[in-house]
Amino acid sequence: MGIGLKDLFLRHNAQTTDFSLALEISRAEGSYLYRPDGSRILDFISGIGVSNMGHGRPEIVSAVQEQAARYMHLMVYGEMVQQPQVAYAQALIKAFDNHLDSVYFTNSGAEAIEGALKLAKRVTQRTEIVSFENSYHGSTAGALSAMGSEEYKSAYRPLVPGHIIVPYNNLAGLESIGSQTAAVLVEPIQSESGYRAGNPEFLAAVQAACRRSGALLILDEIQCGFGRSGSLFAYQHYGLQPDILCLGKALGGGMPLGAFAAARSLMHQLAQNPMLGHITTFGGHPVSCAAGNAALHLLQNGPELPDLPRKSLLLKNLLDQLPHTTGISGTGFLWSVGVGSLDRAIRVQHTALENGLLTDWFLFESTALRIAPPLTCSDDELRSGADILADALRQHPN
Ligand SMILES: Cc1ncc(COP(=O)(O)O)c(C=O)c1O
Repeated sequence: MGIGLKDLFLRHNAQTTDFSLALEISRAEGSYLYRPDGSRILDFISGIGVSNMGHGRPEIVSAVQEQAARYMHLMVYGEMVQQPQVAYAQALIKAFDNHLDSVYFTNSGAEAIEGALKLAKRVTQRTEIVSFENSYHGSTAGALSAMGSEEYKSAYRPLVPGHIIVPYNNLAGLESIGSQTAAVLVEPIQSESGYRAGNPEFLAAVQAACRRSGALLILDEIQCGFGRSGSLFAYQHYGLQPDILCLGKALGGGMPLGAFAAARSLMHQLAQNPMLGHITTFGGHPVSCAAGNAALHLLQNGPELPDLPRKSLLLKNLLDQLPHTTGISGTGFLWSVGVGSLDRAIRVQHTALENGLLTDWFLFESTALRIAPPLTCSDDELRSGADILADALRQHPN
């Protein structure tokens, strides 16, 4: 007998843990992933905040198919007028509903962060970047330099100099924002520390410190954007005015896409002294932009956003009633269920998976399970996921 797909995957596709789930999936639709034997798994993590509108939405699939048939890659970023890029930039700018009127599309969230950090240095002609403990902004060198975890950084030093990491939700650290600060990079809701929402006073103070010192405020809404926080964008809920907004994940509607957005007066500096301030071959791929635009259209015109406060409360109540947890935290459709240890998190995750529910843990909060279902998940699906999780927690009470 030949080697199975799973063994080939483990042998020839680079692994970054020794305990990958290595789940074989043959198709995905709505809130479910389907295995080759036809059994289904309720997706309670949405590909880590990507599949906000559920899997296999016909409108997004058609947009992909139509654009792929029209044209795919034409030329490196910025040289050709590509209708899907233009249309999606227009739709995003309208949705931002603020002064951000220029969008640079990238391949990924990390590349959006890289572009934003570079732009901040160009605009301010300053060298320092302030970011926060337990923040995650991506895995490339610049984004890694801003990450708030020495454990995941130290093997790669020297990284980019000039990065200062201060505590999140703590006003004392903001004293580090000063005349050398090019930008403060912050997640309104910290994703990898277990969906820790920023205190409104803290985020307002970050913005005020930026205004006082002339530093730019870069918001990372790569994971918490596109409805997950309860608003289309979290900055709208907090009343913040970012100078640069970084997007990714759900931005592409299931296709790879990132973006950083700024006022045109700032963004234009990438075109001068020297020109070509950020270069990307595939950034803003027309198929990704077509998919993302279709997903945004669905989100803006469907029932999910208006219904989210009710559904978020339902989900919170279901999670609150789970047995043997150390508590829950989160907001919107971003929740964290405390289970006490990484070992138990993995045991509960595996048992839930055997019973048809996909959950995950967090990079910097390994004693909790990540709950972030598609925004399209029905009430019954939320209830059935919570039931499976309750059984798994009962099977592993400690
Ligand atoms: C908050 C946040 N920022 C940035 C990134 C990096 O995005 P990407 O994996 O697309 O590079 C992630 C990815 O998990 C993220 O959650």
